[in-house]
Parts: sequence; structure tokens; C-alpha cells
Amino acid sequence: MSTRGRGPSKEDELALRKRIGDRRMIGWFYRSLLPYWPRVLLGMGSMLLSVGLGLLPPLLMKHVIDDVLGDGRMELLGTLVAALISCFLGDAVFSAIRTATMHILAQRMVYDLRRDVHRHLQSLSLGYFESHSTGDIMSRLSNDVGAVENMVAHGTDTLVSDTCRLIGLIIFITVMLWQLALISLIPLPFFAIAIVLFARKVRPYYQKVREELGEINAHLQENISGIRVVQAFAREKHEEELFDRASFGYFKAYAKGVWMWSTFFPAMAFLTSFSFVAIIWYGANLVHGHQHGATIGTLVAFFGWLQGLYGPVRSLLQVHNTINQALAALARIFEITDTKPEITDAPGAQELGRIEGRVEFENVSFRYHTGEIVLSGVSLTASPGQTVALVGRSGAGKTSIANLIPRFYDPLEGVVRVDGRDLCKVTVASLRNQIALVLQDTFLFDDTVRENIRYGRLTATDEEVQQAAIAAHAHEFITEDLPNGYDTHIGERGVKLSGGQKQRLAIARALLADPRILVLDEATSSVDTEAERIIQAAINRLVRGRTTFVIAHRLSTIVNADQILVLEDGSIVERGTHTELMALNGLYKEMYDRQFDIPEIEASLPQDAAPGPARGPSFPGEEYTGG
Ligand SMILES: Nc1ncnc2c1ncn2[C@@H]1O[C@H](COP(=O)(O)OP(=O)(O)OP(=O)(O)O)[C@@H](O)[C@H]1O
Ligand SMILES: [Mg+2]
Repeated sequence: MSTRGRGPSKEDELALRKRIGDRRMIGWFYRSLLPYWPRVLLGMGSMLLSVGLGLLPPLLMKHVIDDVLGDGRMELLGTLVAALISCFLGDAVFSAIRTATMHILAQRMVYDLRRDVHRHLQSLSLGYFESHSTGDIMSRLSNDVGAVENMVAHGTDTLVSDTCRLIGLIIFITVMLWQLALISLIPLPFFAIAIVLFARKVRPYYQKVREELGEINAHLQENISGIRVVQAFAREKHEEELFDRASFGYFKAYAKGVWMWSTFFPAMAFLTSFSFVAIIWYGANLVHGHQHGATIGTLVAFFGWLQGLYGPVRSLLQVHNTINQALAALARIFEITDTKPEITDAPGAQELGRIEGRVEFENVSFRYHTGEIVLSGVSLTASPGQTVALVGRSGAGKTSIANLIPRFYDPLEGVVRVDGRDLCKVTVASLRNQIALVLQDTFLFDDTVRENIRYGRLTATDEEVQQAAIAAHAHEFITEDLPNGYDTHIGERGVKLSGGQKQRLAIARALLADPRILVLDEATSSVDTEAERIIQAAINRLVRGRTTFVIAHRLSTIVNADQILVLEDGSIVERGTHTELMALNGLYKEMYDRQFDIPEIEASLPQDAAPGPARGPSFPGEEYTGG
């Protein structure tokens, strides 16, 4: 069975909730309500008024029946009807105020929560996103935040209003006729106990429902983002089956829960109807014998109140469910906000002023969260304005070196310095503001071309954006090939761009950022020779005057670099200029010769070998990593 979509960090819901602690979450809840206390007072006040007014009509009905109809005091009818209308009107007005206030309050809290979680999420290190699936994170910010909203809007409201209503009802019926009240209250404790037991029994089903829903989301998210691979391998059927399994799991879990709810409540209603029957029988006897002051009006009022007796008990116990769900959801949200960003400004970290661009690695070793050492004993120095090329076979550690420069990760041992200053002792923002990256799989936002370029410097004018595009050799295709020029929407809803075009936009973006240090990770690997030539021209302009790290498989693009570092298994094994390294006659020369030897290799292949997809030259022993 496929285990796709299950993040490695998924902790058991109850264990997570225990770890976070209900008390802390309830504390959070009250603290978040505190700034909105006037709204809370308004909501609760209107709620109490509407509950109080809702209890009066049966009492007024009693007087209509006994005093107006029974004793013939018609002069009272007008007053009583007016009182009834006032009750209904007041109830409606205060209900409206209460509903609006509580819902707006809930939305306000959710807004605060979502904003805080999002802000925190942005600050988390790359490592966090590598170990959590996108679907999972998104579901926490939407579904789980929604569960909290539900608790604020409905949970608290029901909790307070139904408690008040229940207490009010019990007082009214007891004062009216305690003998009848006793009969109607007897089943109440049993009813409550039954519901508590039932809720306990049904909870695992609902937990299962939530888990299955998460599964569906995770599958869907992976399926959609990986649709290219799915279709390329014609695995639609397979995906359908996986999705179907998740969907059906959800259906099954839900159906079981539904069966329990839908049989339980009618059964309970049936049982409570016995007390109705008892009240009718006993009540009729009392009225008939004129005992304890019982009248027809008393009976009518009684039934009016009884209608509302079991409802609040039931919804109070459902609130229990709402609160449980919200606490489970809140625990998952807290798990995000409790995660400390690994890369933070050290206490007393200093702003890095405009740098010259000297980069040094001193005896750096490094490993990712999970896994083995990927860099060991790496030392290098790039003088300001120099171009340093990193070459080596796939998995040698080139990207890992590049990741340490903007401090996406901290080294395990050794120091990385910029202009002689330890990266761990300067502020992250002031460092990253002076570094730009152009990566193999450029990410463009679902926005216009202009805004995508402007992302490099948000304050840039349209004129500056255009200048950058011209320098990146992107202006031509933007104005000639795109329907709306710079205002063309790219991404989801707009025009799609080729790999080379995206690359040039990324270069324009980097140009606009005007960084002192530049990292180009396989910036030209996804394009053909002609496009590569144009991009190379754009890159040549980009690197001028900046310290540049270039990672390239195609060695022809880096022969002019000031220094070339050859990596093997996380260590630098050769270093020098192209000429020096060729003279060294080592790994570099072997790789270089291999790249320009392709026709010979092909000629030496057996004639009946199946023609493979055209691939660029590669390093000896390089494994095909699928892009
Ligand atoms: N995010 C990560 N988490 C854990 N291990 C990783 C991560 N990224 C890379 N690695 C491991 O680190 C090693 C070096 O990877 P790196 O990406 O630096 O190689 P590379 O030289 O850039 O390769 P390529 O030429 O294929 O891009 C590899 O063994 C890889 O499996
Ligand atoms: Mg790489």
C-alpha cells in the first residue's frame, strides 16, 4: 500500500494534544478574547436577553388561557398580546446582535491566528518544509483554523446560552408546579449520561473521519502538483485507485459515525417521550382534581417549556464535541508555532552593511537534518568580483555549498564568512539582501511579468524593471511574444513560459536585486545551445562586478571562471583555473574530455541499442537522477 502523503512528522492526535496541553490552549483562547472584551460583553449581554425573552411566551400563554379564557377577563388580552409581540421582537433583535457579534468575533480571532501562524511559518527554516508535506501545512492553516473558528462562533455561544436556558427553564417549571417538574427532570440525568457515553464511543470514528480527510487532501495535493509525471507515465488509473482508496476510507469512516448518530438520537427521543406521556397523565389528573393549583394554562405552559428542555442538553453535549475538535486542531496549529526557526539572528547579531563580496569557507563540514555528512573539510576563498565554479558529479555537494552562503543552513563545523564576518553573527536579512540566487527550476509567482521581475527589489520603478529585462535579454520576448507585454499574467491563469524564458526573468529579477553575491545553480541546464548562448550573455552581464558561484554540469560554460573547484564526495579534490586543471591531468580533465567525447561513445555503442532520449554530456559514473 502506498504511504504517499503521510508526512514523517505526523504525530498521533491524542499524543500531540497531550503534549501541547489543553490548559495552555484554553489559556490561549481566553487571552485572544481579552482584547475584544467590549464585543464579548455585547455578544453575551444580547444572548442573555434573548434567552430570557425566549422563556416568557409560555408564561404569557398560561395567562391567556387561565385569565382571559378561563376567567373571562378580556381586558387583559391586549396587554398580553402586546407583551407576546415584545418578547418575540426582542428575542429576534437580540438574537441578531448576538449572532453577528459572535461570528465577527470568531472571524477576528481567526484572522489574528491565521496571520500569526503564517508569519511564523515564513520564519521557519527550509528543513521544516522538507519534513512536512505542503498538503499537511495547508490543511492546518485552513481546516484546523476553521475548527477553531467553529468553536468561537458556535461552541462558546451554545455553551453559555444553553446553560442559561437550561437553568432558566428548570427554575420556571419548578416554581410553576414542582410535582410535574420532578417528573420531567427525572430522565434528564440518564439522558445526559447516555450522551456522554455515546460521545465517548463515537469519538474514535470522528477522529478517523478527520484523518481520512487529511489523507484525501494530501493525495489531491500531490496528485495535482505531480500531474505532469502522472500523465507522462500514464498513471491516471493508478492515481485514481489511490485517490479512490482515500475517498472511500473517508466515506466508510463517515458512514459509521452517521449510523451511530442517526440511531442514537431518535432512540433517545423515544425514551424521553415516556416522560411526556407521564406528564400528560399525571397533569390531566391534577387539573381535573384542581390539585396544587394546576390549571389548563399550567399544562400548556409546561409543554411550551418542555419542548426546549432536551434540546439544550443535546446541544451542550455536542458542544463538547466541537470543543474537542477545536482543541485537537489548535494542538496541530500550536505544533507549527512551537517550532523554533533553526536559522535566527543570534543575540547581538549585527547588521551587515553594503559588502564587498569576499566569501570564505574555513574547514566547513555539513549535513542535512536527516542523513550523513555531505560536506567535509571544505575551505575556499572567493575574492570580491571573482567567479568561482563548482563542478563534480551529481550528489557531490555543489548545491549544499551554495545553500550555506545565504545561510539556509548552518555548518556542522567550521565557519562561513562574508567580508571576514561569521555568518552566524550577522542578521539574516542583511545578509540575504545582498545575495541573489538563480536556480535550475525557477519559481515564478502567479502574477504579471512585471511583478515577477520586481520581486527582486519591491521598490523598483517600471523603468528599472524594464532596464533589468533588457539587460537579461528578456525585453524582446516580453514585448514581442507575450500578449500583454509586461502586464501578461504568468502561471496558473496566464501564459506559460519556456524554460529559457523563465530563466531570463529570473536573471532580470536577480539583476534588479543588485546583489553583491550571486549564486547560479545550473542556471542554463534546461535549455538548448541557442537559448544557452542568450542566457549566457545575460549572465555575463549579471556577474560583472559581483562575487559569483556558478554550478554547471556543462563545463563549456565555466572555462573562463577565475577558479574552478572540483568536488568529490563532499570534499574539494582539485582547484585552479581551467588551464591549470587541464594540466593537472586529474578528475577535471577526465570529466572535460568525457564531455567532448560523446560522438565516440555513441559510435562504440552496440548497433541494436535502443535509442535513448537525447541527453547532454554528463560526468563519468553520473547517475541519471531524472532531472
Ligand atoms: N534537503 C536535503 N536533505 C537531506 N539530504 C540532502 C538534501 N539535499 C541534498 N541532500 C544530500 O546531500 C548530498 C549532496 O547533495 P547536493 O544537492 O549538494 O548535490 P549536487 O552536487 O548539487 O548534485 P546535483 O549535481 O545533482 O545537483 C546528496 O547525497 C543528497 O542526497
Ligand atoms: Mg545541485
